[in-house]
Amino acid sequence: MSAITGPAHRTEVPKLPHSPGNGMDDEWFLKLYKGNELVPWDTGKAQHSVVEAFEQGLFTAPVIDLGCGFGTNPIFLGSKGLEVTGIDLSPEAIAEAQTRLAAAGAPATENVSFKAGSVLDLADIFSGRKPFQSALDSALYHCLDDATQEKYLAALHKQMSSGAKLVLCAMSDRNPAENWKGPRRISEAAIRHSLREELGWRVDSVDMDTRYEVPKEVSDSVTELQAGFGWALLAVATRL
Ligand SMILES: C[S@@+](CC[C@H](N)C(=O)[O-])C[C@H]1O[C@@H](n2cnc3c(N)ncnc32)[C@H](O)[C@@H]1O
Repeated sequence: MSAITGPAHRTEVPKLPHSPGNGMDDEWFLKLYKGNELVPWDTGKAQHSVVEAFEQGLFTAPVIDLGCGFGTNPIFLGSKGLEVTGIDLSPEAIAEAQTRLAAAGAPATENVSFKAGSVLDLADIFSGRKPFQSALDSALYHCLDDATQEKYLAALHKQMSSGAKLVLCAMSDRNPAENWKGPRRISEAAIRHSLREELGWRVDSVDMDTRYEVPKEVSDSVTELQAGFGWALLAVATRL
């Protein structure tokens, strides 16, 4: 596996795919992580919403982080003593996550592991493993089209125990629609529909006043974003 270019050498903000209703292509992510452009969600630290969710006691081990990218969120949770598995489509992202984990040291190194693979293949990847007690989706769901969201949540449901919590952060429709590029803008109604009871979920809360943080270079060049963040929703749901 080739070494990824370190964040310090990535300065150019990539063009985000224009995807008002569609998901973002797997190939776009794979290429981004192989290239030299800035990874537009790599702030180098855990998202504030994840830190807050941790402080509210929403995570119970073992935790799965879906679409973990460079692993900053799972490394934060692992440093707090939780056993976490991060999974991402991109082997290059996972290689960088391993490097960051090694740099974080114990206790994160003892608690966190990473896997390269698709969240659509959770059944194969975690075959025979005990179910997860909580799940984190920090900006993955909003990358997927409707049909993929549904398949992904069904696959995740099978890997979680009854009563387990899902914490999901997605860019919201509070961001302006005009000129918006990049991930889908998720409405409260849409997330409630995806996590409806007939599919085995109960929505505990949806906070529409959440921020998904992005590097300053990104918000400086994308005028539809706020300074350092995009408006997001944070949904907490129970797996029935
Ligand atoms: C917007 S980034 C968020 C990264 C990280 N969770 C964070 O908040 O910093 C979405 C991540 O989901 C990953 N991803 C997209 N589709 C995926 C899939 N089908 N399976 C696993 N990971 C996927 C991408 O490679 C990317 O790292």
